[in-house]
Amino acid sequence: MRIELSYYRYMIRMLVTGGLGFIGSNFVRLTLKERPEYEITVIDNMTYAGNPRTLDDIKDSITFVKADITDLEIIEKLVQDNDIIVHFAAESHNDNSLEDAWPFINTNIIGTFRILEAVKKYEKRLHHISTDEVYGDLELDDPNKFSEKTPYNPSSPYSSTKASSDLLVRAWVRSFGIKATISNCSNNYGPYQHVEKFIPRQITNILNNEKPKLYGSGENVRDWIHVDDHNSAVHLIIDKGKIGETYMIGANGEKSNKEVLSLILSFMNKKPGFYEHINDRKGHDLRYAIDATKLRTDLGWAPRYTNFEEGLKDTISWYENNRVWWEEDKKTTEIRYSKIEK
Ligand code: NAD
Ligand code: TYD
Repeated sequence: MRIELSYYRYMIRMLVTGGLGFIGSNFVRLTLKERPEYEITVIDNMTYAGNPRTLDDIKDSITFVKADITDLEIIEKLVQDNDIIVHFAAESHNDNSLEDAWPFINTNIIGTFRILEAVKKYEKRLHHISTDEVYGDLELDDPNKFSEKTPYNPSSPYSSTKASSDLLVRAWVRSFGIKATISNCSNNYGPYQHVEKFIPRQITNILNNEKPKLYGSGENVRDWIHVDDHNSAVHLIIDKGKIGETYMIGANGEKSNKEVLSLILSFMNKKPGFYEHINDRKGHDLRYAIDATKLRTDLGWAPRYTNFEEGLKDTISWYENNRVWWEEDKKTTEIRYSKIEK
């Protein structure tokens, strides 16, 4: 009896939206491993990006609710029943947003609005996950990086809906005093990332003996961070972040797409020229780069994966060893791409 009482006293109930997706599922795994004080509920409506296999091995350690974050009744109930909401759920792929922006507007804007209203009503703690893409892009030689003070200037339907969601969170903090924090992170890599995204697409192309596809010149720069480093920062912000504040998350991982591709080719024993240039993405952002000084100095965060090449090798091995996880998605993704790529 005493054990039961202390169990209920110390468990913190955490709702993870989009917990079947790439970053959300890695967050759930990290939390189960390192934070036994959390009792986790995942809400995910299992879009094409929510692979049912992803949480299979840990399904008995969490509660899974298959539902849409725009569903008012369900969101109200789940928010009421939990102490903290970590909001990952989103439509997340730029290329898709250029084909059809509606799901982005619905999930990223209206879904976030629903969560904010429920958080306001039940006075719960919210952490909102966002992207550095809300700041637009930088010139290749710009010495400045994105910081918490950079003005919003999104380029794509995806990034503009993420910017909208961030602004809603800021407004709900200011107008209604909700207890929320926001983080804007750079490009993540690691296991369980959907094969539509750059790194897994090229790895799985090579595993299928197809040439990788480079958009435009391949000079575009992304600031890569391992997904576990993103998620360790999220935990720190939940623990120690100041309510109402925004934190940039990044690990000084700038690399051009060409550089990343040539590393993948060499680690997978392919010739350096085994790829093709294809037409560029519309409105393609040139460069992202994060200044994470605030996170490092105010909260004392540091990344664990400081060697991109090692993290990339591990990621390649993961895709080599988990063909069953990605094979079906690969077929549908490449059919989708074949309709738009030249
Ligand atoms: P993802 O596409 O892999 O996963 C998104 C998950 O959300 C999926 O499981 C999907 O089924 C679920 N989902 C989508 N719409 C939903 C809805 N209406 N209701 C319930 N669930 C829904 O995305 P990701 O790469 O894991 O990104 C997660 C979050 O992190 C997003 O908010 C994204 O903007 C942000 N982010 C991503 C990156 C990156 O590099 N991938 C970088 C910075 C920030
Ligand atoms: P992506 O993974 O879609 O992330 P984001 O658009 O959020 O940065 O793309 C990363 C970079 O890789 C981006 O500059 C577009 C480029 N890219 C390619 O060159 N080829 C591809 O097949 C894909 C999917 C992306």
